[in-house]
Amino acid sequence: MSGKPSQDSAPLGFATRAIHHGYDPSSADGALTPPVHLSSTYTFETAEDGMALFAGERPGYIYTRLGNPTLDLLERRLAELEGGEAALATASGMGAITSAIWTLVAPGDEIIVDKTLYGCTFAFFRHALTRFGVSVRHIDLSRPEALADALSPAARLVYFETPANPNMRLVDIEAVTAIARSAGATTIVDNTYASPYLQRPLALGADLVVHSATKYLGGHGDLMAGAVIGRRETLDRIRLFGLKDVTGAVMSPLDAHLIMRGLKTLELRMERHCDNAEALARLLDDHPAVESVYYPGLASFPQHDLARRQMQRFGGMIAFELDGGRDAGVRFMNALRLVHRAVSLGDAETLVQHPATMTHSTYTAEERAEFGISDGLIRLSAGLETLADLQEDITGALDASGDGLAIAA
Ligand SMILES: Cc1ncc(COP(=O)(O)O)c(C=O)c1O
Repeated sequence: MSGKPSQDSAPLGFATRAIHHGYDPSSADGALTPPVHLSSTYTFETAEDGMALFAGERPGYIYTRLGNPTLDLLERRLAELEGGEAALATASGMGAITSAIWTLVAPGDEIIVDKTLYGCTFAFFRHALTRFGVSVRHIDLSRPEALADALSPAARLVYFETPANPNMRLVDIEAVTAIARSAGATTIVDNTYASPYLQRPLALGADLVVHSATKYLGGHGDLMAGAVIGRRETLDRIRLFGLKDVTGAVMSPLDAHLIMRGLKTLELRMERHCDNAEALARLLDDHPAVESVYYPGLASFPQHDLARRQMQRFGGMIAFELDGGRDAGVRFMNALRLVHRAVSLGDAETLVQHPATMTHSTYTAEERAEFGISDGLIRLSAGLETLADLQEDITGALDASGDGLAIAA
């Protein structure tokens, strides 16, 4: 089944498309699960055939870095779920981001990026692109009017995450993309935290979406992967230049198979991540050891109204600060017994980490202070475990966080 509804039927639901889109078992001897094509290269019937494929005179597979049937199927499915014309599968989220951006910028261009970004994305902008004549300006995009003031004719790209890693700040996708478009700049949104189940930036005006598919899309902490989704013409350019010639960050077909397995339960998992995160955010908010909680689903979250407008639910990620700052945070992390101390997110296991010294240690202390990543901030990725077990573990660790002896626990 192609996943396309017939003219008189209702559009297919998200889960149906995540399970079926783009695959017809009759094309593979009736196999329910799509075959995994592991071949790195493809044979040509004749030399002339190979020449015609290379010249783009006829469609077909040449070499997996340029395309592969298993990657194609995943790409069609991701494009469908994000509402884009086409997608590109990559070896990691950083592979997706760098393949896209190396394709779209040239020396002399300016990129405008949000102040809060995942640490390695920040390092790529701050330390890699700037070495090649691209200037990067960090603007607080949670205030769209700041973008209007900052845009110049050299501004080529506007890039942001929403919710942002790690402090959960939101960006109004519709407002920011409208301002960027009026100045001729392309907007790229990192949709890793929300997943296409909760938020679809392309429908709100973004030009490209990028993902770390290592997170919710894969969902099981057993692979590294990324994706870019958007217009076919742009994706063709990113595939044939950024991916093929610059980064070479090609996804393994085995990982594409695992992501398609993950996508089958994306809706179910996201609902459970949201249920657990909403309850844990309330628990944290009510606990006397906690100073601040940043979760878009809390009525006290400053951008709660925006979250309600642009997200279906509020996601599985929470950030918070304890009363005793960084030391209390360390005591809290060390007192956890069920929740794991680990970076990454979107897995079945609940994970906590300390951004200032871990995922965002690519920022200097001054940059963290300027860009809103406090020393005491703790990031929690709510997993899929039984809520009561998480509540018991987290309450116990919060109770112990004020007590210096808990470090040894
Ligand atoms: C929001 C966000 N974007 C991009 C990345 C990079 O993805 P990857 O680790 O798959 O390269 C990460 C990784 O943590 C992330 O959190």
